Amino acid sequence: MGPGPSDVAPSVLQAMSRPLVGHLDPAFVNLMEEVKAMLRQVFLTQNEMTFPVSGTGSAGMEFCFVNLIEPGDEVVIGVNGVFGMRMCDVAERCGARVTRVEAPWGNIIEATQIAAALEKVSRPKFVAIVHAETSTGALTPVEEISRLAHQAGALFLLDTVTSLGGCPVRIDEWAVDAVYSGTQKCLSCPPGLAPVSLSPRTLEVATRRKTKVQSWYLDVNLLSSYWGQERVYHHTAPVSMNYALHEALRLVLAEGLENRWRRHEANHFALRNGLEAMDMKIVSQAGHQLWQLNAVGVPAGADEAAVRKQLLASYNIEIGAGLGPLKGRIWRIGLMGETSRKENVDAVLAALREILKG
Ligand SMILES: Cc1ncc(COP(=O)(O)O)c(C=O)c1O
Repeated sequence: MGPGPSDVAPSVLQAMSRPLVGHLDPAFVNLMEEVKAMLRQVFLTQNEMTFPVSGTGSAGMEFCFVNLIEPGDEVVIGVNGVFGMRMCDVAERCGARVTRVEAPWGNIIEATQIAAALEKVSRPKFVAIVHAETSTGALTPVEEISRLAHQAGALFLLDTVTSLGGCPVRIDEWAVDAVYSGTQKCLSCPPGLAPVSLSPRTLEVATRRKTKVQSWYLDVNLLSSYWGQERVYHHTAPVSMNYALHEALRLVLAEGLENRWRRHEANHFALRNGLEAMDMKIVSQAGHQLWQLNAVGVPAGADEAAVRKQLLASYNIEIGAGLGPLKGRIWRIGLMGETSRKENVDAVLAALREILKG
């Protein structure tokens, strides 16, 4: 019940133990096509360039940034937690001039802040934000920021590592140009792949750039020859991870996206109500709290680390600690994918009740 990886269904683990085939085997090629089609359904997009990058969520982040940024480009990035900071670091390594739009940790990035920043940037290449900040439990609304980015002639890039599969993510409806995610959060698959999607317009920007993409491994121009129709060897696909993702996506779609979102919502409220009955609360910005990652304020007098240790040692429940300015002040309780279950909510509440009373 930490900030990911989440629990994984037995059938996903079984899929990983299936015999290997070659990464150009017709059976595998068929599976790749099914993974791409299911990812489009989960991202709610028609984008042809939708596939899983080999690597964890951070590889998805780097994929988007290295393909879009050329040295000297101006970009605007929302920073309200660890992952906005990581985006800035990656963008600077690509040679971008970064304008940071900062909000206190636990708060969302306001569209008005992005509008103000865009007035000061002459030619923004893109605006990037983290949809669900796993380090703080805040969910930033996307649509108005997307509109402002486009109005300024910029692309709009979204991190959905923690949101995808756990709450609404509507790539085409929100006009998101580039998006990445991870497998180990609300998709409930082990860590190791990073689903990404680029709109046709974004792909054109990436393919018409003047300088070579500085990463060979993540260059979409090369990767598209393997994930597209040509099937040219680029790198050896992580075959077993793709088996796992195929099964995890099948389970997501069998449950239904709306049902899955509702399940995450219901379990969040069950946790929140239980915490409130114990005089505890979720501390991220009211009205914008994530369903899948709950930032719980540590009550006065409680030893943050000792409680977490006892939860693990005596109750076999793992939760996360706060990071950065929230270190020592919050616990992060994940209710992601398979982990988002009423029994888990009841178990963590009962354990906290016992530990804190003692
Ligand atoms: C919002 C967000 N973005 C990016 C990442 C990086 O993903 P990974 O740790 O899989 O590389 C994470 C990981 O927790 C995340 O929560």
